[in-house]
Amino acid sequence: MFMPVATHACFRHLGMEEVKETGARVLLANTYHLMLRPGAEVFRKFGGIHPFMQWDGAVLTDSGGFQIFSLPEDRLITEKGAHFRSFYDNSRQLLSPESSIAMQQAINSDIMMVLDVCIDSRTDEAGTREAMERTHRWALRSLAAKNSKDTGQALFAIVQGGVHPNLRDESAAFLTPHPFDGFAIGGLAVGESKEERETMTARVTASLPTDKPRYLMGVGTPMDLVEAVMRGVDMFDCIIPTKMAQQGYAYTFQGLVRITRMVYQLDDSPLDPACDCYVCKRYTRGYLQHLMRGKHHLGSRMLSIHNVRHFQLLMAKLRAAILQGSYAQVYRELRATISPPKD
Ligand code: GUN
Ligand code: ZN
Repeated sequence: MFMPVATHACFRHLGMEEVKETGARVLLANTYHLMLRPGAEVFRKFGGIHPFMQWDGAVLTDSGGFQIFSLPEDRLITEKGAHFRSFYDNSRQLLSPESSIAMQQAINSDIMMVLDVCIDSRTDEAGTREAMERTHRWALRSLAAKNSKDTGQALFAIVQGGVHPNLRDESAAFLTPHPFDGFAIGGLAVGESKEERETMTARVTASLPTDKPRYLMGVGTPMDLVEAVMRGVDMFDCIIPTKMAQQGYAYTFQGLVRITRMVYQLDDSPLDPACDCYVCKRYTRGYLQHLMRGKHHLGSRMLSIHNVRHFQLLMAKLRAAILQGSYAQVYRELRATISPPKD
């Protein structure tokens, strides 16, 4: 499954109903952003994120580990957690394994993530090991915090270890004996090559239990998803469909379309004849080009609706292929049609 991103409990440019209609059933929200604004008290008052944002699907909350990694210089990361100042009012904040779980319980997401230590993938082995070992200690503290007040929410651990195969093995071996509900692969899509990412993904999934979900965090393009599913991944989140839409790109089953190219000016066909979204059913490439070239917000909204639907259609295709035992064939077809980009 693919989870559209609603970091601040809302989608960028898209309404709740529009996202729901793409077939997405789980969204991703972020603990770091929501703890700062609107804060735990608001979520407690409104009974959690589902009634607050009127989303009747499921919600996964990321822990904030990835955001600590990109905080300004004056943060302080200790064994206890990350100390930093709020971007909004400069107030002192602590994000620890325990406070992240408490916030995720206030948000009342369906799936919580452990607080982890993210590093640049170019960090040396000693530094990567240090971050990984702290991630392991924090994962156990997160599990203990969850168990001390069980709200029925699921908790996933995050495998780290950078681009070092031995550390990836060690991280999976450390985490898998503990009663987590699923396992994520973190620390990828942070500067490593596509080959390294795919090798590490295969390496980790080989050590994970087959009866619990595997989630590759922050990945990726349609072809990245096809490659990762082949390596045993079940779940994804990424801002790519909406981010690319804002830049005028549409993902189609015939490849990537840059709608502002002049070849589409007089094109009266839909963005993707293989797509059933609201946009493809009604509008032409010529009209979408007109909207994007004129920088009308409606244009990027329409491309976003299409791209998010495309990701859902792609995942449905992959699920069907797995059930029918035809993944190898579908993989070859998709490789030939959706990548490389058209222009
Ligand atoms: N999002 C993308 N990568 C990561 C990661 O390594 N950890 C967390 N918590 N979130 C992520
Ligand atoms: Zn479409």
